[in-house]
Amino acid sequence: MKLGLFVGAASIAASSFAVTANAEEISISCGALGIELTLCKDGVKKWEEMTGNTVKVVSTPNSSSERLALYQQILAAGAGDIDVLQVDVVWPGILGTHFIDLKPYTQGAQDDHFQAIVENNTVDGELKAMPWFTDAGVLFYRKDLLEKYDRAVPTTWEEMAETARIVQKGEREAGDDDLWGYVFQARAYEGLTCNALEWIDSYGGEIVDAKGDVVVDSPEVIDAVTEAASWMKDMVPPGVLNYTEEESRGVFQSGNAVFMRNWPYAWALAQSDDSPIKGKVGVVALPKGGAEGKHTGVLGGWNLAVSKYSAHPEIAADLVMFLTSPEEQKRRAIEGSYNPTITDLYQDEEVLAAVPFFGDLYDTFENAVARPSGVTGEKYNRVSAAFWGKVHAALEGNEDPETAMSDLADELGAVKRRGW
Ligand code: GLC
Repeated sequence: MKLGLFVGAASIAASSFAVTANAEEISISCGALGIELTLCKDGVKKWEEMTGNTVKVVSTPNSSSERLALYQQILAAGAGDIDVLQVDVVWPGILGTHFIDLKPYTQGAQDDHFQAIVENNTVDGELKAMPWFTDAGVLFYRKDLLEKYDRAVPTTWEEMAETARIVQKGEREAGDDDLWGYVFQARAYEGLTCNALEWIDSYGGEIVDAKGDVVVDSPEVIDAVTEAASWMKDMVPPGVLNYTEEESRGVFQSGNAVFMRNWPYAWALAQSDDSPIKGKVGVVALPKGGAEGKHTGVLGGWNLAVSKYSAHPEIAADLVMFLTSPEEQKRRAIEGSYNPTITDLYQDEEVLAAVPFFGDLYDTFENAVARPSGVTGEKYNRVSAAFWGKVHAALEGNEDPETAMSDLADELGAVKRRGW
């Protein structure tokens, strides 16, 4: 007989799981971007020591779109292979039916998290996943290069592009052939949807509005995509059309880009001891779409859910409650710059010392713009795939932005007519 309930600092919410007769083995699937897998394993190990249970940690593909396809396959088969799943903030509507309601296990712990995420994770009154970390797109820049060329931190995309070109030209003339102006995520996958929605939102456009109407052929959207397509000619590496987060980070972190759009996790790595750009990096909100536009950032982030097909749902829920606790979120924030979903941690001095922009950009994180996954529900991936496909074609120069967005509006209109 042993206690399965994890114990820790008083601030950690205990789950209702109390006693188990035998130690069990469960499994969790974690992401593996940067040091993500190590952070997951360290947290899991602590819980194993506290409870006596053992956990198999399974890593998943880095691309969110590939992970979704994998999960859909496993869950559609009703397989209990993975007990705890790391799920993207845009998936509760797509995968929620395969997850248990976590409310009986939380003892109200969800009240301490960003309520927008808790609502996002609630489907038909059931809490399908506990928030683990949140994300918003931010702009990384090289402080040293901006200083060298006497350029201010850009506040609009147009200024960003101008500075990127000036610095790239100057550095190349000085012999650095590898330097590029800007890197971002332009592979045809979910990450491109995030990038492009940021451009669009910064100009005041939307893909699908809150009522569920398709509005992706507006002048604001076309302006935004046109601006992004103009970068392709001369200030981004040609390979960017196949970049996800990690490829972009690789180029930026090796010192070969002036600007990078990425999620906050890239900070801890860029600042690590073996990083060639340590101490040379600044982070600000993404630029506005023209002087009249607004700063923005798409809401990303990951949550932990328990599969309905798990043979040990109580034990799995206990692990979820430990990994999403303040103690773990604080550790992950300090070691890996993963944004907590617990609001109080944004006032924690150790967290703010490790990741100063968590304080400066709090508004960006709290008001990040959501992808239209709520309103399109289980159709979200169809919508996103159609969107990233057309944006990719416009970036490649295969379609002009106006035609691409007008065709997309027709395509999404047809999806909508079949119901979302
Ligand atoms: C990040 C975000 C996630 C998003 C993905 C796209 O992992 O947290 O929400 O879907 O990037 O690449």
